[in-house]
Amino acid sequence: MAKQGPRSTNNVIIPYTPRPIQRDFHKNAKRFNVAVAHRRFGKTVMAINHLLRDILLCQHPRPQGAYIAPTYTAAKRIAWAYLREYAGVIPGVRFNEAELRCDLPDDRKIYLLGGDSADSLRGLFLDAVILDEYADMNSRLYPEVIRPAISDRLGSCTWIGTPRGSNQFKEIYDYAIQQEEAGHKDWFSMIFKASETGILKQEELDAAREIMDESQYQQEFECSWSAALVGSYYAQALDLAETDKRVTNVPYDPNLKVSVSFDLGVADSTAIWFCQEYPRTGEIRLIDYYEASGEGLHHYVKELNNRPYHYDKFYFPHDVMVRELGSGSSRYEMLLGLGMRPTVVAKLKVQDGIEAVRGLLPRCWFDRQKCAEGLKFLRNYHRAWDAKRNDWRDRPNHDHSSHSADAFRYLAVGLRDHNEDDRMTSMSRSQRMSDGRPVILTDYADSFV
Ligand SMILES: Nc1ncnc2c1ncn2[C@@H]1O[C@H](COP(=O)(O)OP(=O)(O)OP(=O)(O)O)[C@@H](O)[C@H]1O
Ligand SMILES: [Mg+2]
Repeated sequence: MAKQGPRSTNNVIIPYTPRPIQRDFHKNAKRFNVAVAHRRFGKTVMAINHLLRDILLCQHPRPQGAYIAPTYTAAKRIAWAYLREYAGVIPGVRFNEAELRCDLPDDRKIYLLGGDSADSLRGLFLDAVILDEYADMNSRLYPEVIRPAISDRLGSCTWIGTPRGSNQFKEIYDYAIQQEEAGHKDWFSMIFKASETGILKQEELDAAREIMDESQYQQEFECSWSAALVGSYYAQALDLAETDKRVTNVPYDPNLKVSVSFDLGVADSTAIWFCQEYPRTGEIRLIDYYEASGEGLHHYVKELNNRPYHYDKFYFPHDVMVRELGSGSSRYEMLLGLGMRPTVVAKLKVQDGIEAVRGLLPRCWFDRQKCAEGLKFLRNYHRAWDAKRNDWRDRPNHDHSSHSADAFRYLAVGLRDHNEDDRMTSMSRSQRMSDGRPVILTDYADSFV
C-alpha cells in the first residue's frame, strides 16, 4: 500500500494513493480502530486497502480477512469492485465471484460478507475484519460473531461509517476514545467532518445542504450523532460538549464536595447525577451517574455511601415532601431518618427547568465512562410527537430517558438557586454587587421583594 504515492509491496504496485487523512489512518491504526467519516469520504476504499494490507502482511499461516457491509448485496455492489481494482494487480490472485472471495498468493484469503449473512462466519478464525457502515448493522454481530472469530489469532477489527443516531456505532466510538484516554495501546479513533477534510468541494456541500434538511446534513456531512434525534432538547448542547472535549475522563476531586440530584421513581427507575462544582471557573463536573429500578430508599442511600465522595447537597423535587399513604410519612422524613438531608428544589414548569438545563450545559463536563448511560438518556430526551397534528408537542416524551433528564433538571434548578442564594448572601454581607458597585436599595428595588 502506498505511503506517499504508489509503493511496491513484494514488487507489486497497488494502484491506491491514500489521501493525506487516509494515510494518517493507515499509519496510526492499531488492533481496534473506529473511523467516523462523512459521506463520500473514501471510507470503503480506505477500508478495503487497509484489509488488503493487513492480510498481505499477516505473519500467521493461511491468513483470512473479512470485509462486512450491512448487507451481502451492498458488499457485492460496492466493495467487490474496489477489491478487484486494488487486489487485481497482484500476480496469482483469483476472484471467486460466486462466493465473494479473493484468493491471494500464499493461501491468503479475503471474504466479502453482509452483516445479514454473517452467521456463516461462526466457527471461522479471522486475522482482520472491517465493519463498514457499522451504524446500520445488528448490534449483536460484533460481540456474538466477530469478537470470538478474532480471538485465537489476536486479529484486528476496524469499524467504519457515518453516524446514524446514538446507536452501537456511537457506543464503540465512545469506547475507543475512553480506551485511548486510559492509555490502552490497542485502540485508535478518528472523526472526519466534511467541513474539516476539504474532500468535497464547498459548492457541492452547499448544493447538498439546499435539498437536505439541516439535521440530515449534520448527520451525513458533519458526523453529528444526534441529528437523527430531531426534537431532542439537549442533543445540540451535548454535541458541543463533545466537540469542546468536555466529555472525557473527569475524575473525582477529593478537595471538593459532591452534590447529588435525584429523580425518585416509585414504580419505575430512579436516576441520580453526581457533580462537583468548581467555584473559580464555574465548571460543573458530572463525575458519576446511577440508575436502578424496583429498589427502596435504603438501596440508594447505600449506593451513595459506597462511594468515596464527600457530599454537599442532595437535590430532590418538591414531591419528596408528599406523605405516602401507607407509611404516613414523607420520603423527606424517611431520608432524614437514613441520614440524608434533602434540599428541595423550586417547583418550576418543565419548560423552565429545561431552560435551566440548557443554561447549565455549556459549563458541564462529563465523565465519559461513568456518565455514559445518563448521557445517552439526556441526548435522547425529546419532545413528544403528535401523530394527529403531524408535529412535535410542547412537552417531553415520557419514556426510559426521562429519569436521567428529570434528575438533571433538578440539578440545574438546584445549582442555579443555590448560586443565587450565595450571590444574594454575599451581596447583602458586602453591600456590593459582583462588579463592585455598592448595593443601593430604592423603592424600585423594593418592588421586587
Ligand atoms: N485515495 C483515493 N484516491 C482517489 N479516489 C479515491 C480515494 N479514496 C476514495 N476515492 C474515491 O472517492 C469516491 C468515494 O469513495 P468511497 O466509496 O470509498 O467513499 P465512502 O466514504 O465509502 O462513500 P459512502 O459514504 O457513499 O459509502 C470513490 O469514487 C472513490 O473511488
Ligand atoms: Mg462506503
